[in-house]
Amino acid sequence: MTRLPSPRLLMGPGPSSVSPAVLAAMSEPPIGYLDPELFELLEGIRAGLRILFETKSRFTVPLTGTGMAGMEACIANCVGQGDRVVVVSAGYFGDRIAELAGRLGANVDVVRGEWGKAVETSALRTDLERGSPPVLVAAVHAETSTGVRQDLAPFAAVAHEYGALFLADMVTSLGGIPVDVDGWDIDIAYSAVQKCVGAPPGLAPVTVTDAVLESMHQRGLPHANWYVDFKLLGAYYDSPHTYHHTVPVNNYYALFAALGEAFEEGLDERFKRHQTASNALIAGLREFGIEPLAPEAIRLPTLNAVALPPGVDDLLVRNNLLSHHGIEIGGGIGKLKGKIWRIGTMGFAADMKNVERLLAALKTELYR
Ligand SMILES: Cc1ncc(COP(=O)(O)O)c(C=O)c1O
Repeated sequence: MTRLPSPRLLMGPGPSSVSPAVLAAMSEPPIGYLDPELFELLEGIRAGLRILFETKSRFTVPLTGTGMAGMEACIANCVGQGDRVVVVSAGYFGDRIAELAGRLGANVDVVRGEWGKAVETSALRTDLERGSPPVLVAAVHAETSTGVRQDLAPFAAVAHEYGALFLADMVTSLGGIPVDVDGWDIDIAYSAVQKCVGAPPGLAPVTVTDAVLESMHQRGLPHANWYVDFKLLGAYYDSPHTYHHTVPVNNYYALFAALGEAFEEGLDERFKRHQTASNALIAGLREFGIEPLAPEAIRLPTLNAVALPPGVDDLLVRNNLLSHHGIEIGGGIGKLKGKIWRIGTMGFAADMKNVERLLAALKTELYR
């Protein structure tokens, strides 16, 4: 490639388009990873992430890496070889948590739900009643493969009844819909910044309660995963600020700017903007005979999974949207490959102008 790629409007499942101010912040000169001003910035980012996650936990940090780094780090730090882990899954990313926990040596049990629906708490309870007590129960808040929002507080309550920790995937919810880590009694959660938080990919916000962090340290976990060891990382993020790895300073700048934008807008306003953009998108798509997969009560406003109308060439339309209109939307994954589109209304892209632009482009491509 002899040039940088063309600008795109990113309305797929992520990454999502980023504001000019966030991009400008990212292009500032980097400073060193032990510079006192970097730690001031990091404190600001951590305070902002606590507000987004609605938690008071000290260990709320922007891990280096994308959402998968967050997933891997959280599981590696609380699961040892042979530990029982129960994953509630009704989609691709729930299945991924299960696969990853298995690779890390856990004995994994999956409570499966139908793709496109939420999973009943009773299904989790039935599983927990049957087997030996798990160390960890995990579930996805916003399932990006189906566009379904799953209530997490009831899962956390049942997990705790059985003495397990509860881990939440908040990759497609944080910054786009309300999350309440402390209020829902969630022990560990991870996310990613490139969706509703409004920053470019590269950081995975993670939060762990003080008590759970202490219990991880006492168990000496993780045994084998040096890069994501929360104890080592904690000694970098907090005093004595010991070198661990070269953190991506410019991604910190971008996240700091994105958090500033979010608080300037106000979280309630931000959530409303996501909902308004999604509602307008769904209303427009209905005029083309395109319907959402998830029932209204559990439909995500951040990721709109919609059934492909009969006779439409999935790849052709998506390729034309990209090449003729500069707009990216996503196709289905896993079981829903070729059956749905996944259209993001996330972060900076969750905007009426963008929705109108996409609907106009889609109209051209559908009736071409
Ligand atoms: C629900 C969910 N979890 C985890 C991930 C993995 O995040 P990443 O692709 O940033 O590594 C994604 C990515 O789309 C996701 O949607």
